[in-house]
Amino acid sequence: MTEISPGLENVYIKYTELTYIDGDNGIMRYRGYDINELAEKSSFEEVSYLMLFGELPDEKELSNFKNKINNNLKLPDYMKNILKNLPGEADSLGILQTVLSARSSIELNYKYSEKNDKELIPEILGNVLSIVSNIYRIKSGKAIIDPIPGKNYAETFLNACFDKTDDQKIDAIDAALILYMDHEIPASTTAALVTASTLSDMYSSLVSAVTALRGPLHGGAAEGAYKQFLEIKTPENVEPWFKKNIIEDKKRLIGLGHRVYKTYDPRLKSFKKYADKLSVTPEQKNILEIAKKLEELGVKTFGPKGIYTNTDFYSGIVFNAIGFPLDMFTTLFGLSRISGILAHITEYVEKQEKLIRPRAIYNGYDKREYKK
Ligand code: ACO
Repeated sequence: MTEISPGLENVYIKYTELTYIDGDNGIMRYRGYDINELAEKSSFEEVSYLMLFGELPDEKELSNFKNKINNNLKLPDYMKNILKNLPGEADSLGILQTVLSARSSIELNYKYSEKNDKELIPEILGNVLSIVSNIYRIKSGKAIIDPIPGKNYAETFLNACFDKTDDQKIDAIDAALILYMDHEIPASTTAALVTASTLSDMYSSLVSAVTALRGPLHGGAAEGAYKQFLEIKTPENVEPWFKKNIIEDKKRLIGLGHRVYKTYDPRLKSFKKYADKLSVTPEQKNILEIAKKLEELGVKTFGPKGIYTNTDFYSGIVFNAIGFPLDMFTTLFGLSRISGILAHITEYVEKQEKLIRPRAIYNGYDKREYKK
């Protein structure tokens, strides 16, 4: 009998040279390089280039790539108008989705090829930096601007968001953008592949990805984890909160557990390092202490079942310490993920293209008489 695989669990739809994950031993690599080493030693542009084009760039390749991205920081007026005109309560990721969707409407007859993709990708990376920084600005009551190129993508982004930033925060957001860049083919990347496999254009494929990212089962865990810390309020309240919510009410502890990892998420190491470095105010130190106590209790309770801390447990603490409010966390995840999604789209369409079209087993009525 034919069986279905709910959630496409354990169904493989492509080969990939991009991200290697060993969920039992907590290992993650981009094109063979350890993820934490890349986060520490490389910039977002270098790792994007690695993922998109196969190798880390030399000086000239990097400078060309950066220039092309920087040439696309100025958004066209129609995008700025959409940013201005959406209602104030619009969801941050929903705004990104809407602006990308408007751009897709004027992408007529896009033809995937190494040459065309190479031209379009820096435009997308420049545009998205500008869209996301302006989403933050609008939500904070600031005017829309054209970002000014800094030393790297991370600096350009933070300078566009905030009046003041520093090297530690730039390093932290740079690392976060790298750590979240790709994770094989989760729901959002799969959604992009389904769309790209119809040979719909690159922007439409990205819209599919961002739309799928928005759901709380996928992109929203950093926000969920941080909300727990806020609800707990003090380190002393961790144990009573855990007993009531997690043990008695059987709620899930957000920031723990993963479909693939049965041990600590390897990206956690870097996020924890930046959470330690950046938590300097009494409020930030309080949240960090709550998080550490909660992690200890969670791992003690669920570790024996293979449920350990995932990357979202600490990433919200880093985003918040950099200066971002809760409702930007998923959008920052989206900004980081664009290069990875584009790399999967081009890898699939340029090398393995086949329309993705699964089947469903019909289990409804047999033939019925039509009666009026
Ligand atoms: N807290 C408490 N129990 C948990 C948790 C958790 N965080 N995660 C899994 N479990 C338990 C489930 O209750 C279930 O128990 P049971 O077998 O007694 O019913 C068992 O572990 C298996 O859970 P599933 O949901 O079937 O496993 P799955 O692999 O589908 O879950 C998931 C993965 C959805 C991430 C889950 O661990 C979870 O909900 N975690 C909390 C949300 C979260 O942190 N998401 C972020 C994921 S990482 C990322 O997207 C970057």
